[in-house]
Amino acid sequence: MFHPDGPSLAELLRQALTTTERGYDLLAPKFDHTPFRTPEPILEGAARLVGGPRSIRSALDVCCGTGAGLRHLRPLCTERVVGLDFSAGMLAEARKKLEGAPGDAEVELVRGDAFAMDFEAELDVVTCFGALGHVTARDEDRFVAGIARALVPGGRFVFATGTRPAPTSAAFWMAHGFNAVMHARNRLVSPPFVMFYLTFLWPEVRPLLERHGFTCEATAGACEKPWERALIVVATKR
Ligand SMILES: C[S@@+](CC[C@H](N)C(=O)[O-])C[C@H]1O[C@@H](n2cnc3c(N)ncnc32)[C@H](O)[C@@H]1O
Repeated sequence: MFHPDGPSLAELLRQALTTTERGYDLLAPKFDHTPFRTPEPILEGAARLVGGPRSIRSALDVCCGTGAGLRHLRPLCTERVVGLDFSAGMLAEARKKLEGAPGDAEVELVRGDAFAMDFEAELDVVTCFGALGHVTARDEDRFVAGIARALVPGGRFVFATGTRPAPTSAAFWMAHGFNAVMHARNRLVSPPFVMFYLTFLWPEVRPLLERHGFTCEATAGACEKPWERALIVVATKR
């Protein structure tokens, strides 16, 4: 559907009719050939804002998928880079893709739930790319609390987002159309597949982050074309 080596429409529909976790297990071998994988210019822009090579000790990429973000984080770390995801299929792909990845920090791949992480004041940076659509409004506080708990004082939570699209834009109608289909699917089919657009938008996300002890800043223009409109949010734990 997206790329000759990507999933067909039938495969995507089958995946969307299972659970979120099982859907990603099925999608994993072809995931990097879909637009759901975070584009390189966004990962590069975020990594630049984190810092230079070996400038931090440790980082965690929450919902790491096939390891796209981890490849960029590893060279920045001197000690450990951790990827957490609940899909065993996605982690298996990440393991393959991280073989020989640049950097020498130890790579840890952890199967776990982003809403129940047990890291305690041990990471300099936590990132989350392309997965904030899996966090519903009901779970936002639990999710951000786990990230705040994982970070050392002064640690940073870094993610890419955008502003709310104007109602006159195609992006507005596409996002709302997609969300309406997902809500209808979840009313008809159980268990739900949790994925929605327009979550963690800037500046609406700010009060949520501040409630959990973060000071935040959003940087525009950090990513190269065609992603120059992406905003990279750096939320620093006070
Ligand atoms: C769209 S993919 C993004 C993967 C990767 N971060 C990237 O940017 O290419 C979303 C990932 O989030 C994971 N995920 C979704 N909900 C999760 C949860 N509650 N706990 C852990 N992982 C989750 C999925 O398994 C999937 O690998």
